[in-house]
Amino acid sequence: MAEAKILVVDDEQIIVELHRKLLEKQGYRVIMASNGREALERVLTEKPDLVLTDVFMPEMDGLQLCDQLKKGERTNLIPIIMATSADDFDHKIRGIETGADDFLAKPVRPKELYARVKSLLRIKSLTDSLDSAETVIFSLANAIEAKDQFTKGHTDRVSSLAVSLGEHIGLNSDDIGTLSKGGILHDIGKIGIKDTILNKPGKLTAEEFEEIKKHPETGERICLPLHSLQPVLPIIKHHHEKYDGSGYPCGFAGEHIPLLARIMAIADVYDALTSRRAYRDAMRHTEAMEILRSETSDNKFDPLLFEKFEELIESREDLRKLFDCEQMAAKGA
Ligand SMILES: [Fe+2]
Repeated sequence: MAEAKILVVDDEQIIVELHRKLLEKQGYRVIMASNGREALERVLTEKPDLVLTDVFMPEMDGLQLCDQLKKGERTNLIPIIMATSADDFDHKIRGIETGADDFLAKPVRPKELYARVKSLLRIKSLTDSLDSAETVIFSLANAIEAKDQFTKGHTDRVSSLAVSLGEHIGLNSDDIGTLSKGGILHDIGKIGIKDTILNKPGKLTAEEFEEIKKHPETGERICLPLHSLQPVLPIIKHHHEKYDGSGYPCGFAGEHIPLLARIMAIADVYDALTSRRAYRDAMRHTEAMEILRSETSDNKFDPLLFEKFEELIESREDLRKLFDCEQMAAKGA
């Protein structure tokens, strides 16, 4: 990764120049900033592969910069090296807390700088390739959806609905992110099912239904190698479990079904009902809710979650509209 781009941040021009020369000698491209605020802007526009920053700077110091970068969804995987004084133990601890990846004692020794930069860039390059593998999986999910006229837009709507329900019950931002990805990926295993079965207008035979039942585990296998998708696996695998244990693939019941999968199950079925299928028209919101209500009293969905879902969807016209549009379009209105 000799052509990697490194952002050097320091308010002392002489230090910036020194670091720039050292890094350029190794074949790296160097961009510069003189404080944390300027660095943040440069990170967003230039997307560096690594940030080497000082701690004490005007406007925004190195700790605040590190904190901001590690909190940002688009910037949290950029490795950060903090240059601190050798005896500055307190700032080192705070640096670790804000997520700095490595430290260098000032004045920087070239050999140590090169070794640390090289090692962090190796990790960054691995992360980048995993990231592109994740992009491939998402494209695959979109491709599967696009070939099926009846499920077009399904994953995006399920994703927004599951996210809204998660937010409504106060889940943390990690879980919300997982729901968002889960909505897109939950049916990715359908790639293994023949189109003739997926788009069959009539009732499925027992054998065909057995085929359909394989998609959660196929989906789990597709996403399993990706570290970044580990939190999504329970959603993919368990989104067809029923609260009374009558679902598939594991027949889990009640709270044995992971919470995020229980949320996805409600969002998935609501969207399926309000969408057109090969064998029926889209249902109106009230009709879909009646079915969901009756299935919940039959113990098919988590009753507390369903109560929250009802509360949410009845209070959010914008969400209902998202599904109504689909319904109107399906009817050719
Ligand atoms: Fe599914």
